[in-house]
Amino acid sequence: FSFLRFTWRLTYLSAIGGLAYIGYGIYEMRNPEDQPPPDPTKKTLVILGTGWGSVSLLKKLDTENYNVVVVSPRNYFLFTPLLPSCTTGTVEHRSIMEPIRNFLRHKKASVKYYEAEATKIDYEKKIVHISDDSEIKGDISSTEVPFDMLVVGVGAENATFGIPGVREHGLFLKEVGDAQRIRNRIMDCCETATFKDQNDDEIKRLLHMVVVGGGPTGVEFAGELQDFFHSDLKKWIPDITENFKVTLVEALPNVLPMFSKQLIEYTEQTFKEETITIRTKTMVKKVTDKYIEAESTGPDGKKILEQIPYGLLVWATGNALRPVVKDLMSQIPAQKDARRGLNVNEYLVVKGTENVWAVGDCAVANYAPTAQVAAQEGAFLARMFNQMAKTQEIEQQLSELSVAQEKAPNKDARDQVFTEIKELQKRLRRVKQMGPFEYSHQGSLAYIGSEKAVADISWLSGNFATGGTLTYFFWRSAYLSMCFSTRNRILVLMDWVKSKVFGRDVSRV
Ligand code: FAD
Ligand code: NAI
Repeated sequence: FSFLRFTWRLTYLSAIGGLAYIGYGIYEMRNPEDQPPPDPTKKTLVILGTGWGSVSLLKKLDTENYNVVVVSPRNYFLFTPLLPSCTTGTVEHRSIMEPIRNFLRHKKASVKYYEAEATKIDYEKKIVHISDDSEIKGDISSTEVPFDMLVVGVGAENATFGIPGVREHGLFLKEVGDAQRIRNRIMDCCETATFKDQNDDEIKRLLHMVVVGGGPTGVEFAGELQDFFHSDLKKWIPDITENFKVTLVEALPNVLPMFSKQLIEYTEQTFKEETITIRTKTMVKKVTDKYIEAESTGPDGKKILEQIPYGLLVWATGNALRPVVKDLMSQIPAQKDARRGLNVNEYLVVKGTENVWAVGDCAVANYAPTAQVAAQEGAFLARMFNQMAKTQEIEQQLSELSVAQEKAPNKDARDQVFTEIKELQKRLRRVKQMGPFEYSHQGSLAYIGSEKAVADISWLSGNFATGGTLTYFFWRSAYLSMCFSTRNRILVLMDWVKSKVFGRDVSRV
């Protein structure tokens, strides 16, 4: 009996301890400590962007070592892997956004943030020109930010390959605003298709959802859309059941080219069961407001040009360079052969420069443009910058000690300084030991709809490919654990429960 009482007391005390710990965590999060102001005597480190690369750098950077300035038009970090889920309301967009202000307010020393776009980097003058692109503008809406060190982490923009009509009529899926536009357009198409006296051809067109690009963005979106239709849309708007159709158009012979062959086949088979039509070897050449013009290759190798009517068109054909990156490349002779982004060396230094680094989708380091790569690059730069600051500090101490050694009044004092110098030199060697950036691939994951996912996972120096419902649970837990903050994790979890219990919201705003 007394053992039971003891166990009960222990559990009770642990629960109180746990609650107190969580409570203190929340209190600390809500009430950050005062930060020392930026130190202008230190080197100015300017970081462009608040995406995967830049935020991962900021997370690990000791901001006491530099005068840190962040410039980005987006005052939040976006957890892009769950963005496709926002297009249908499985996850609400605010759940995957983390305000950059909250995050920076918790750094050791304060960091200046400007909500602005870098419009030009003047490499020679070491200046970034910035411009406030938001709706409200003050008397000053463009100015210059000087730098000693610069990290370019501005990501990429959507590739359209100059295909006419894409920008005017297609919707992209890169930012929060894109996901909101898609969510509204889906509902608009459904409501317009059920408008009184709508004719059959028009109903079919309006309910034809076309996704161009069979990379992971296109595949994940098509899967989410089909889920939305099966679990919610056809229940609440039964009139659309017959005609609602999702088509995925891909120029190459198969979708998800970066996944292993068996997962490509599994995805294509799952899409067939979900009644998503895949049109491979079909290249879109032109887009109008009501149809796309696509060239497909028939089994006999003949090219056929056809018009495919659509209601919603989502364009997901990969990345293109941002103008500010293109402009920087044109200033550096060593970048003249660069095509897909800033060529960087194994320490992520932009080739041909001394004080400019690049991370993520705007840098070319022979890895795929993924969040995983960008995050590891950012973390590497943080370690390197922290180490550079430590090196400088030790070198400063060493030069002070050598002066002290010269001025030492007797042999004993000189010997003592000599021992200190030896110790510091040893520490300096240890600190300087930092190898080049090495990417460690953890695997690729993608959701393909119907509560199934595919995963190519690197494990114990081997590769293992898996797909299905269990992989879907793995996908969910992996992404939940990768969310930026505990707050994001809780919000995403609540969204998943909410959409499962009450269904997704079919209202249009
Ligand atoms: P981004 O994260 O795009 O950040 C760029 C930042 O720069 C933004 O803050 C932007 O506002 C800012 N910026 C833009 N222009 C300027 C300017 N002129 N001046 C200053 N700042 C500027 N990868 C994975 O590994 N796994 C996934 O599951 C996955 N899912 C994805 C799903 C979707 C829908 C998309 C679109 C991408 C996905 N990716 C995924 C890819 C991943 O999001 C990118 O590789 C990653 O975001 C690249 O990080 P980045 O820091 O280079 O750029
Ligand atoms: P992508 O570059 O991976 O795929 C684009 C696809 O569009 C290509 O297969 C290409 O052949 C096709 N295409 C191009 N032009 C076309 C045309 N005119 N007509 C028809 N098809 C055309 O682009 P995506 O999916 O946007 O991904 C960008 C990056 O983000 C990739 O590196 C990807 O790995 C990463 N990402 C990773 C995810 C994950 O790991 N789950 C999810 C989303 C993106």
